[in-house]
Amino acid sequence: MSGFSAPHCGSLRASDDGREVELYGWVARRRDHGGVTFIDLRDRWGLVQVVIRSIGETEVRNEYVVRVKGKVTRRPGGSENPKMATGEIEVVASDLEIISEAKTPPFEIQDDVNADEALRLKYRYLDIRRPKLAQTLELRHRVVQSIHRYMDAHEFMEVETPMLLKGTPEGSRDFIVPSRLHPGEFFALPQSPQQLKQLLMVAGIGRYYQIARCLRDEDLRADRVVEITQLDVEMSFCTEEDVFTLIEGLWSKVWKDVLGIEIPTPFPRIDMQESLLKYGTDKPDLRYSLEIGDVSDALRETGATVLRSALDAGGVVRCFAVPGGRDMSRRELDELALIAKGAGAKGLAWIPGPLDRHMSEGEMAAIKAAAGAGADDLILVVADRRRKAETVMGLLRREIARRRKLIRHDEWNFLWIYPMYLFEEDDQGKLTYGHHPFTSPWPEDMHLLAERPYEVRARAYDCVLNGFEISGGSIRIHQPELQERVFEILGMSREKIRAQFGHLLEAFEYGVPPHGGIAAGIDRLMMAITGTDNIRDVVAFPKTQSHQDLMLGAPSPVDPAQLAELHIQVVPPQKAPS
Ligand code: AMO
Repeated sequence: MSGFSAPHCGSLRASDDGREVELYGWVARRRDHGGVTFIDLRDRWGLVQVVIRSIGETEVRNEYVVRVKGKVTRRPGGSENPKMATGEIEVVASDLEIISEAKTPPFEIQDDVNADEALRLKYRYLDIRRPKLAQTLELRHRVVQSIHRYMDAHEFMEVETPMLLKGTPEGSRDFIVPSRLHPGEFFALPQSPQQLKQLLMVAGIGRYYQIARCLRDEDLRADRVVEITQLDVEMSFCTEEDVFTLIEGLWSKVWKDVLGIEIPTPFPRIDMQESLLKYGTDKPDLRYSLEIGDVSDALRETGATVLRSALDAGGVVRCFAVPGGRDMSRRELDELALIAKGAGAKGLAWIPGPLDRHMSEGEMAAIKAAAGAGADDLILVVADRRRKAETVMGLLRREIARRRKLIRHDEWNFLWIYPMYLFEEDDQGKLTYGHHPFTSPWPEDMHLLAERPYEVRARAYDCVLNGFEISGGSIRIHQPELQERVFEILGMSREKIRAQFGHLLEAFEYGVPPHGGIAAGIDRLMMAITGTDNIRDVVAFPKTQSHQDLMLGAPSPVDPAQLAELHIQVVPPQKAPS
């Protein structure tokens, strides 16, 4: 038996009429009609109808694996199925062999499957039989192949970097791996190959790329995975413009190769501050407008105390107009207020609404102007600390776009967020890096490093597609003294710098080219391409939100002997006192 050179079930067409074929596949559906059995036979390429008339009783059931011999025949007039790619033909079987039997699957293998995701993840190999998921994996493969061709054509060399590393900061926790030969010592799995790609520039490779697996132990959200696949890129003697041109060319090629679509370049660029102000996020989706305005200055003396007290506490007042929004019911507005509160806002105001009578005509006019509101529009208003107000407004903007169907779904909206900032506040209000600590400050802002670090712009950029951050990168620091200074501003002691990054600083003393690069998240890219909001839909074997592989049953305890060999003792978590 050899199915390797056999035609694919899903590839047969009317032009194959009369051809004798041998097919291999899974029984997707069986129907019996007055002595004739019809089978939809499935393989990765799709479905074909097989007609069984003269080979006696068949015992085939759904998901059995079979070999069919037969003749491709045009379907009788009127029985064509325009919904199937193979719908003009059928295969009239002369022989059928059951290769393997199958139990009844725990859910129906069909695209509009109505099964719990956990069940689908446990039986992922059955889930992948669903044409939609198989096609997504195929699309992902095409995207990656197109990337390889483009990078090769631009003289980038793929270099594999190790999985067992020392920690590199990308803002998440490291997964660590114990060393058997060095008791008490650990490797870290790569959060990214960041330092290695920079060292490859010191090594003179000049143009590097890799389809790299990165591991980040972070709390999962709908757009995050623990095992990320990145297109990782680094080049020497380059500027931001070179990276923009390279990546714009790359996405143009991928879109053309894979989707047959021309995308306009160059992509627009938006300053990060402007993006946070106008769209409430650093990854704005501009397939709809809903621009946010700031009215803090106009309301400093307002009689609307909820707004005034936020301003007095150093906060801001932001607003945007919902086109035609005066038709929104009180219930809908209350739902929006709940969403705002869920994101930590003190409340949500709207105009026209209860606050109107506390505001002067001039204040109302200022709000309408800032929101760009027309006569039928409703204005949503949030007063809070700046960061909170941005987050809440960004969330409401997305929610309104979704509810009121304002998103232009046929549009590919690429943009660059540039420039970004070198430092930001972490959740505890401590100074931390914006992108990563290897990012170069703007030369013009160097004088602000010591006194006003938050104002220092970074030579960093994110590429955003339809509201997904699909890639991020920067021009790097290549001066050892400046790199050390940035580590120090981040609060690291000289000893810690030496221990953690001594190799990089030392390498920079042996002739380092200026360099920069970017990494694109293939998983996020595929989310944007397929339009899903669940990242697990574009990954073959994803983990759950709680970092479990339900199919393999991982993580799981290991043999005590294995632990002993690694010099590891497990301390069970302490139970909280009851
Ligand atoms: P960064 O951390 O921005 O940069 O990551 C680059 C891109 O990888 C994707 N990504 C993720 N996708 C899914 N789940 C995650 N948990 C996740 N984290 C990141 C995003 C993101 O834009 N070393 C730098 C790149 C550089 O400076 O060259 C880095 O890794 O699409």
